[in-house]
Amino acid sequence: MSFEIKDTITWVGKIDWELRHFHGEEYSTRRGSSYNAYLVRDEKTVLIDTVWAPFAKEFVAKLKEEIDLNKIDYIVALHGEVDHSGALPELMREIPNTPIYCTANAVKSIKGQYHQDWDFRPVKTGDRLSLGARELIFIEAAMLHWPDNMMAYLTGDSILFSNDAFGQHFASERPFNDAVDQSELYQEATKYYANILNPFSKLVDKKIKEILGLNLPLTMICPSHGIIWRDNPLQIVEAYTKWAADYQENQITIIYDTMWNGTRRMAEAIADGIRQQDGTVTVKLYNSARSDKTEIIAEVFKSKGILVGSPTVNRGVLSSTAGIMEEIKGLSFKNKKAAAFGAYGWSGESAKVIAGMLRESGFAVMDDGLRELWSPDEQALDACVRYGREFAEKL
Ligand code: FEO
Repeated sequence: MSFEIKDTITWVGKIDWELRHFHGEEYSTRRGSSYNAYLVRDEKTVLIDTVWAPFAKEFVAKLKEEIDLNKIDYIVALHGEVDHSGALPELMREIPNTPIYCTANAVKSIKGQYHQDWDFRPVKTGDRLSLGARELIFIEAAMLHWPDNMMAYLTGDSILFSNDAFGQHFASERPFNDAVDQSELYQEATKYYANILNPFSKLVDKKIKEILGLNLPLTMICPSHGIIWRDNPLQIVEAYTKWAADYQENQITIIYDTMWNGTRRMAEAIADGIRQQDGTVTVKLYNSARSDKTEIIAEVFKSKGILVGSPTVNRGVLSSTAGIMEEIKGLSFKNKKAAAFGAYGWSGESAKVIAGMLRESGFAVMDDGLRELWSPDEQALDACVRYGREFAEKL
């Protein structure tokens, strides 16, 4: 499958309808994904990015239907990660002398993965590649999402090829933002930002200001995953600006795991307390052992506060709590409040352990946490309700 983006620009990527996990098993992709590659024809022809390695043969075979490979003058590798560079070995077997334009860091990442001395042409921000009537202007975009990323702006058509930035894991037969369900699109774009780009929010903000400062016209943003932004493409730039500014909604998320339902009952009583204190706030509860962790992270991203609970096990916490806390720590959330809780039978360290993890992850933590002995009775559940009220009040 290929389709026209504009009369001289063809999408030649791969829609991966079956993908359910990305980055190994880390990121859930319930709506699949796509690896977007683009062929731009002018006096010179350039291929921007390839696809993930499992689709390399299919990619090259379909590319041959689109163009005589020897007529590709340049390859642009916006990012060395395998989901975009994975078909390079298959392609370069056919056209080994074609120059590859990429950042100096991408030379390292591509060489490191494929161990080939292809004709790399390192570029920096502001470097230009003439295609004839139009040019590609390169813009380095370190940490969006690796140190090797860059974007490319096509003059004339005024299109920004943004690679990972502004993407979403979202397979669609009609991959344009005006042709898909808007709530699905934004759900995936938010989840993608929360799970991939949130730690780099300061750099996102800086890069957006830099791009907007160039005062370039913009008709389309073509990311390397998911939907192409052609209807008011600045809308996703504006959304990123908002998300990069320590984003939060009027939401509190409670994440817990439980062995014999004591910590679950505590979580539900805390939720009751929050609702009693503030009827306007959205409260969501997730059992971290039973829920999709990528989606829990998207909910943390949207929250102004979180509570995390686990019973005490071996003087620590359950493994799903430790796992989600490791994710939360790595994603560097800012400007959020937190509290901890947990049921126990003997030593009872879990709430304090979680409170420590939350502090280490940058949250403003209310106290050392609420713990309740054995199965919570009415008095214990009342204490949970009060704890929820107090947490909501402090927000
Ligand atoms: Fe889609 Fe960072 O690769």
